[in-house]
Amino acid sequence: SAPLRQHAASRGKFVGAALAASPLANEAAYRTIAATEFNQVTAENAMKWEATEPSQGQFTFGGADALVNFATQNDQQVHGHTLVWHSQTPGWVQSLGATAMRSAMQNHISQVVGRYANNPAVVSWDVVNEVFDDNGNLRTSFWYNTLGQSYIADAFRAARAADPDARLCINDYNVEGVNAKSTAMYDLVRSLRQQGVPVDCVGFQGHLAIQYGFPAQVRQNMQRFADLGVQVRVTELDVRMTLPRDTAKDATQATYYRDVVDACLAVNACAGVTVWGFTDKYSWVPETFPGQGAALLYDESYQRKPAYTAVHDALAGG
Ligand code: G3I
Repeated sequence: SAPLRQHAASRGKFVGAALAASPLANEAAYRTIAATEFNQVTAENAMKWEATEPSQGQFTFGGADALVNFATQNDQQVHGHTLVWHSQTPGWVQSLGATAMRSAMQNHISQVVGRYANNPAVVSWDVVNEVFDDNGNLRTSFWYNTLGQSYIADAFRAARAADPDARLCINDYNVEGVNAKSTAMYDLVRSLRQQGVPVDCVGFQGHLAIQYGFPAQVRQNMQRFADLGVQVRVTELDVRMTLPRDTAKDATQATYYRDVVDACLAVNACAGVTVWGFTDKYSWVPETFPGQGAALLYDESYQRKPAYTAVHDALAGG
């Protein structure tokens, strides 16, 4: 039956995947599924600061360009990830004083966004990532500690200047449902937009786990952001479980995938859903949560799991 991307396109949505540089370069089976099933791609790591500007003013776009070229060849859009984050940012950035840090941030955004500003494949960016802590307070990262919260507005303004046509997103985790953190995100986005800061889009990462339950009111949460006038999207969906897999866990996982896709389909302003990897062969989960994994649509042998069928059937309207 038809690939995910064909069904998504007929619903006016994208279905994306984060891609890892090494299998993208080296594995035909990986490339084939990535090209066939998805119409949007995100670099899992290759566009992050440590990859694109490892030392000050020395820009390295090998991995980023490889991803963009792959997308171009396969008629896919690229969602840029990510410009300003507290993680995977070199030490040289973290130790700058305020004035130098602000200019380094503006220069980084201008160079990275500017490189692809005239490339029709690259359509959107996660401008800031994970600016909240788990309680919904602004995270006391080196960005915040050095610059205060003004770094957020400055980052969006720099991105807009570098590519007036790109859709600019704020992205975070544990904001899929209605909760204290998503409400803090809601208040921030409303306030930034009231000040004329160019925030176009809110990304809900969607790192879910079956043992923690499905977040409450996902569709309602998407809709309240949509009502602020922003586009919304699911940017990093995966659904982990305690290993080993079994039939019951796979079935629960499939319902989580289905419910996320259905929520996006039900909200006009939801542009699409991206999964954070597509095969359990390559996933961040087991490294970060030992004993957990099997979070994606395909198993380690590139066989489709019930989660794949659930996403497929949701997009197909079945
Ligand atoms: O680049 C080095 C390489 O030189 C070294 O040899 C190798 C040995 O471990 O490590 C490589 O760095 C790894 C990097 O990915 C690039 O592959 C890090 O160890 C590894 O920790 C890092 O993990 C990434 C993680 O972000 C880092 O925070 C994951 O692949 C990536 O999936 C994950 O993605 C994040 C999103 O960007 C933001 N939202 C949460 C999501 C999951 O954590």
